[in-house]
Amino acid sequence: MSNRAIIVEQGDITRMAVDAIVNAANQQMLGGGGVDGAIHRAAGPELLAACRAVPEVRPGVRCPVGSVRWTPAFRLPSRHVFHTVGPVWRGGGYGEPELLASCYRRCVELAVYMGVRTLAFPAISCGVYGYPLDQAAEVSVATLRNSLNDETPLDAVYLVAFGQDMYQAWLTALGD
Ligand code: APR
Repeated sequence: MSNRAIIVEQGDITRMAVDAIVNAANQQMLGGGGVDGAIHRAAGPELLAACRAVPEVRPGVRCPVGSVRWTPAFRLPSRHVFHTVGPVWRGGGYGEPELLASCYRRCVELAVYMGVRTLAFPAISCGVYGYPLDQAAEVSVATLRNSLNDETPLDAVYLVAFGQDMYQAWLTALGD
């Protein structure tokens, strides 16, 4: 898959009729605000039940930072939800770029494993978790370019910005 199939859009990821959408979750995976709250509202209560069924790897942690967990998408137009947990921004010196990159990379790996052809990401960590938008845009685009090659059986990866600022940050990062 070449770079041209990384597509930036502005909109609501819960309306994306793709094979899988990515949720910017927290380690407990019991819902929250932001895109997590929007996805749970649109998916319906079955999503919370499916998240609860994901085993804890340690008390209070179903999905460690930088990892990914799968659930069905229930009432969403997509088929799958990939729950990933981005790093909380603490200034950049605590492994945040590597952890954010891991979120994007693990979701692509899971997509390839599951035969997903179209995948949509929100701007992981760029809301409550405070990651600077331009730095997150650079990390996400670089990671996707490294993870996607002509052998990757993905037709398209969408970067779905809710706000204009993230939309511009991703366009800038793609244009580099
Ligand atoms: N579609 C696409 N993007 C959205 C939507 C939506 N419907 N709603 C919000 N966003 C965007 C935000 O504008 C932001 O750019 O998603 C990006 C990520 O912001 P958050 O949802 O706050 O996620 P994050 O910063 O990773 O913080 C995760 O917030 O909601 C809680 O449970 C979640 O504890 C976790 C934390």
